[in-house]
Amino acid sequence: MLLAPSILAADLSDLRGAVESCEAGGADLVHVDVMDGHFVPNLTFGIPVLAALARDTDLEMDVHLMVSNPADLLGDYIAAGAGWVSVHWEVTDHLDRLLGQLRDQGVKAGVALNPATPVEVVSDVLGQLDFVLLMSVNPGFAGQKFLPYVLLKARRLRRMIEEGSHSVLIEMDGGIGAGNIGEVLSAGVDMCVAGSAIFGTADPIAAMASLRALAGAEA
Ligand code: DX5
Ligand code: ZN
Repeated sequence: MLLAPSILAADLSDLRGAVESCEAGGADLVHVDVMDGHFVPNLTFGIPVLAALARDTDLEMDVHLMVSNPADLLGDYIAAGAGWVSVHWEVTDHLDRLLGQLRDQGVKAGVALNPATPVEVVSDVLGQLDFVLLMSVNPGFAGQKFLPYVLLKARRLRRMIEEGSHSVLIEMDGGIGAGNIGEVLSAGVDMCVAGSAIFGTADPIAAMASLRALAGAEA
C-alpha cells in the first residue's frame, strides 16, 4: 500500500509541520487537495503554497486538482513541484489531450472520479494512465463519511485493469481510517489517502504507523 496523508486535515497554520510528520511517519506521498471554490465549494492551496511545501522535502507531492480548469493550471502546479497529478473526469472535455500533457511533462498522470461517476468512463484511456483516484466522499471537505458503494467501483476497476494487463494504480480518497482500510485494500486499492484519520488525531505519526500495520495485516 502507498499511504498519502492529506494535509487538508492538518493544522493549516503549520503546513511545514504536517509535511515533517509525513516524513517521520513514513508516508509515501503528500496528498495536496487543490480546490477552486467553483468545482467544489471550498478554496485551498494555490501554486505558491505547493512550491513552498515541495521545496524542502524529498516526498513526492500528489496533487489532486479539484478545479474547473485543470488544463490552465497543471503546468504551473507541475513547475511548483507536483510529482503526481490527478484531474477530475467531470470537468475535462479533452481528456486524451490533457493526459498527453501530463505525460509530456514527466509526472504521474491520474484521473479522479466523483463517487457517482462510473469507472467505465476511463476504460479506453487506461493505457495512458498511471493511476485512477476514486473519490469515496463528495469532493470538497475532509472529515466526511465513507461511501461504501465505491468499493464495488474499485473491484470493477481492478478487473478492467487486469483484463487489459495495464499497470494502473487505484487510489481511494475520502473517509478512510482504521475502521475500513482493510476492506478498502481488499477491494483492490493500491494507494490510500487519509486526512482526518491521521491529522485529526493527537499523534499523526502514530496514526500513520497504525494504518500501515492494519494494511500489513490485510496483505
Ligand atoms: C476531499 C479530499 C480528500 C480529503 C480526505 O475533497 O479530496 O483528500 O481531504 O480527508 P478525509 O480522510 O478526512 O476524508
Ligand atoms: Zn483528495
